[in-house]
Amino acid sequence: MSSGSLSITLRRPDDMHLHVRDGESLRAVLPFTAARFARALIMPNLKPAVSTAEQALSYRRRILDALPAGTRFEPLMTLYLTDRTDPAEVDRARASGCIVGFKLYPAGATTHSDAGVTDIRRVDAVLARMQETGLVLEVHGEVTDPRVDIFERESRFIDTVLAPLAERFPRLRIVFEHITSRAAVRFVLSAREGIAATLTPQHLLMNRNALFAGGLRPHHYCLPVLKSEADREALLGVIASGDPRFFLGTDSAPHGRAAKEAACGCAGIFSAHAGLELYAEAFEAAGALERLEAFASAYGADFYGLPRNEGRIRLVKTDWDVPASYPFGADVLIPLRAGERIAWRIEEPA
Ligand code: DOR
Ligand code: ZN
Repeated sequence: MSSGSLSITLRRPDDMHLHVRDGESLRAVLPFTAARFARALIMPNLKPAVSTAEQALSYRRRILDALPAGTRFEPLMTLYLTDRTDPAEVDRARASGCIVGFKLYPAGATTHSDAGVTDIRRVDAVLARMQETGLVLEVHGEVTDPRVDIFERESRFIDTVLAPLAERFPRLRIVFEHITSRAAVRFVLSAREGIAATLTPQHLLMNRNALFAGGLRPHHYCLPVLKSEADREALLGVIASGDPRFFLGTDSAPHGRAAKEAACGCAGIFSAHAGLELYAEAFEAAGALERLEAFASAYGADFYGLPRNEGRIRLVKTDWDVPASYPFGADVLIPLRAGERIAWRIEEPA
């Protein structure tokens, strides 16, 4: 990384956790990611869920077709794990060459998760096959029991599901996605080999007060929900340490304004319009800008066994005004920091 007073140039990064939806929503959001990231791991929580290799290959084709002309971008695919996933699907996924994992949504945990896994034991045969083939399990780590406090659902998941799972399948490669808490940081730091985690910009930049700042703030609502300041500090601590088990996954999750500003608003924060710039703010705040490149452009690729990207992207420390909204089919999208400023912007290197 070359670093001057006002700009840094990075190897082109990867977003290892991204929602791009489908159809005209896909066309509205994909250019933001493709302008920054060389590759992204595409979440499979469409309706119906992307649960077979065949469905993932056709979704991948729709994503490639939605790219602006002349853009180079590679979608990495993951399959939605269900109670009925056939272990042979693991082999079909492996053979496809562009499917890198399976996504575990506990049924009912979040947006479009109703087809998810109701009991982890039901997918043991699939996990055993994944362990043999080296495909990665990406985990939405929250219990769904409504009696468990929403701020405790991640830590409860570690104790009751994730830790036992990691023991039962000692060679299964696992990404604990969008971690939000001290408990999750502790778990990953003390875990066996083959366990990593992704971090979102919102969990690095905001705590749960942001949900209620000046009134109810639906555009700050995502799952797992924002946590306490002490939790956020623990996340900043790991990015400052440069530990290769923690890497970039924005979890940018677009929902139209009407679906967010509703009596029962959807979970999801749209951040792809500034998917790298927001991390630059977080790393700068953590006093660790020199660690950004490895977090964004090396550790994720390394964990997945992919080559690091060849291109470069430049971040310049110049404020810009985030628009109040972006077009999103018949609706609009309210981006993170709408109507406010972001301290960094991107530039293609000359
Ligand atoms: O906030 C979230 N939004 N969390 C998720 O796990 C899913 C996502 C979405 O698809 O909207
Ligand atoms: Zn997600």
